[in-house]
Amino acid sequence: MCGIVGYTSTGAPGDADALDVVLEGLRRLEYRGYDSAGVALQIAGRAHGALYTEKKAGKLARLEEALEEQPPPPSRTGIGHTRWATHGGPTDENAHPHLGGGVGPDGVARVAVIHNGIIENFAALKRELLAEGVTFTSQTDTEVVAHLLAKAHTGDLAEAMRTVVRRLEGAFTLLAVHADLPDVVVGARRNSPLVVGVGEGANYLGSDVAAFIGHTREAIELGQDQIVTITPASVTITDFAGNPVQGRRFHVDWDAAAAEKGGFDSFMAKEIADQPQAVADTLLGRSDEDGRLILDELRVDEAALREIDKIVVVACGTAAYAGMVAKYAIEHWCRIPCEVELAHEFRYRDPVVNARTLVVAISQSGETMDTIMAVRHAREQGARVIAICNTHGSTIPRESDAALYTHAGPEIAVASTKAFLAQITACYLLGLYLAQLRGNKSPGEVTDILGQLHAMPDKIAKTLEGLDQVRRMARWMADTRSVLFLGRHVGFPVAMEGALKLKELAYIHAEGFAAGELKHGPIALIEPGQPVFVVVPSPTSPLHPKVVSNIQEINARGARTIVIAEEGDEDVVPYAQEVVRVPQTPALLAPLVTVVPLQVFACELAGAKGLDVDQPRNLAKSVTVE
Ligand code: F6R
Repeated sequence: MCGIVGYTSTGAPGDADALDVVLEGLRRLEYRGYDSAGVALQIAGRAHGALYTEKKAGKLARLEEALEEQPPPPSRTGIGHTRWATHGGPTDENAHPHLGGGVGPDGVARVAVIHNGIIENFAALKRELLAEGVTFTSQTDTEVVAHLLAKAHTGDLAEAMRTVVRRLEGAFTLLAVHADLPDVVVGARRNSPLVVGVGEGANYLGSDVAAFIGHTREAIELGQDQIVTITPASVTITDFAGNPVQGRRFHVDWDAAAAEKGGFDSFMAKEIADQPQAVADTLLGRSDEDGRLILDELRVDEAALREIDKIVVVACGTAAYAGMVAKYAIEHWCRIPCEVELAHEFRYRDPVVNARTLVVAISQSGETMDTIMAVRHAREQGARVIAICNTHGSTIPRESDAALYTHAGPEIAVASTKAFLAQITACYLLGLYLAQLRGNKSPGEVTDILGQLHAMPDKIAKTLEGLDQVRRMARWMADTRSVLFLGRHVGFPVAMEGALKLKELAYIHAEGFAAGELKHGPIALIEPGQPVFVVVPSPTSPLHPKVVSNIQEINARGARTIVIAEEGDEDVVPYAQEVVRVPQTPALLAPLVTVVPLQVFACELAGAKGLDVDQPRNLAKSVTVE
């Protein structure tokens, strides 16, 4: 939530203007929040320095229009923000940057601040500042920081930042520039993401590496409670007390092209098409030439893993549905009880978790605050935590005992697609690893299942090739007001995910149910013409006849039945208005193909309604607030 960019360069001939770099970063981060945007630039060549700021409610395009109408002077240092509103509605006034320190000789304020997160004690701080006569121009929590920083500044912005952050409670990434300090950007990080990009004669800050991927792939991970100062020639990191800290350097293994639409209408369409690769990349390097599973990166005490007697998966939204798929696979392969819990529920009850519990935290971004808090809660009770995550350097893997990375590449569309398939794949790998370690599956059996997994990217690609029928359906169903999704076993989380995609992208009421639950209530919703998607298990599954019966039940009540069924499954044909085919797949792995038509349906239907597929209303990509 909220995207943050910082940049400073020597201003040598050939160096990009700060405005261009900052706007480019904001374009790449807009998925993190898009209800307002703003920039603060250090104007080059002024004797006393000067700040130029512009901010606008609405999408980034509105800010860009304003900057085109009134272009700012050249600059070589700047910060930029794209907002997802928490305190104060999405207005020009509440957009970041926020200014502090009164007006200087150049006619503008001394300090400009941008922020991602929530300052929980801002009301008390604001009262204190108001009593001192400070005037506020916004309803945000962030403006408090701008005024405090201006007050604390005596020439060293990093020192002022250290003084201020020690007074703040909550979650924050803050970036600040000062009118009197050309070529300096100072950042602070607590519970919200911030990474440094290391360039030649230029350095960068961003909420994630996408912010600067067009300029450098060398990065430094910032830890919790750290302050960073970038100048064109240096990166200096300290903790909140001022002690020097060595940040961990890393190389970003994808390039700018991975964060572009690449000819697709939307990032989501591209990310759906990228799914065979996301699954293949997540499997890559995780087996040896004899097909044996190797997960060297899982540096968790193996003896302890043999002793665990319970697994709890914590995650939110789509990631939690990946966790539900994991439950079926893990319990089947490992015979360990596995619970799946929404991270925000887990964190605020009194879960029975101890040193023999393995907690698996699944998160694309690695920054979902609810999941971070669940990880902390679990570790406080002595549980071991393994993160399944798509974002290197993010908080959840950093705070876990070990991490298994999905290699889906950057996911820009707000609605998760390729990360979901990569998460499911990583869960299968983890399940197989535990089954092998604990002797539930022989190495030969594990190799066989790995072989089936390696066949999945081609099956996903084949599924994608056959979806014109789904696209047509989506177009004529654009006026639909409600859609139901049914599935059993691993088809149940797929049904839930299909419903979530439709809600968030097309703003259509949608519900996912376990098909067996239908007769316990939801069947009352079925009336003539009600569209119902049914995820049908393979005819080899003992559940197949049960689901066929469910289809008959809804068909008899006049539902418009759309089934997702394996090639060759003829039993469903008499009762379905539409049959969408997926390749034959082992039952436990089926979600990797059955969810794909549902993603495409939601994406196409949203497009047919003229909605913004990549940036649905009210949402943001990383939910960094509780
Ligand atoms: C839905 C979606 C969300 C996320 C959820 C968790 O399309 O994207 O439900 O899955 O907010 O996000 P991460 O995986 O970043 O923790």
